[in-house]
Amino acid sequence: MDERITCDKMKMKLQKITKPGKEILRLYNEFNYKDKKKRIGKFRTRRIIFSAKVDKKTVGFILANFIDYGMESFGYIEELYVDKEFRNKKIGRTLVQKTLNEFKKLKVSAVHVTTNRRNKKAQLLYQRAGFEKDKNPWYNYWFR
Ligand SMILES: CC(C)(COP(=O)(O)OP(=O)(O)OC[C@H]1O[C@@H](n2cnc3c(N)ncnc32)[C@H](O)[C@@H]1OP(=O)(O)O)[C@@H](O)C(=O)NCCC(=O)NCCS
Repeated sequence: MDERITCDKMKMKLQKITKPGKEILRLYNEFNYKDKKKRIGKFRTRRIIFSAKVDKKTVGFILANFIDYGMESFGYIEELYVDKEFRNKKIGRTLVQKTLNEFKKLKVSAVHVTTNRRNKKAQLLYQRAGFEKDKNPWYNYWFR
């Protein structure tokens, strides 16, 4: 639903949208004005989900997003979870590997994931899968 707000004495309409329309793409191209070749005209997203089943029971899943910015595309792993009773059986690793294969087919430049600082298991899993630890600073907004 649209919302009307006043922003710096200016009346503004705020719309919640689900897909970037022409006007968003126009701004996106403006944002990437430096290299004209990089102009896009497309902005695709796709959700990739794999579920792992053992004897018809779902024991784990991975949820990832593919984002194509036009000039470059990236993969983001959002969630990875394996049922406690089924851990240490290479299910997590298999889900990550499957997702990496999928992203490879989509020709992404890189796949990103963030883990909790204390989650050594997941960090080791990603490192063994070939992920490299990044030193880039992140700005995180926490609701607490
Ligand atoms: C992290 C998680 C997905 C791992 O799933 P899993 O199926 O048990 O992992 P795998 O059996 O595929 O193990 C793959 C690698 O993870 C690491 N790992 C898994 N369990 C571990 C443990 N108990 N201690 C240390 N490392 C561990 C190892 O590097 C392992 O490779 P190796 O066997 O060659 O040493 C699972 O523990 C989980 O669901 N945790 C809670 C949710 C979570 O933390 N998700 C990640 C958020 S980004």
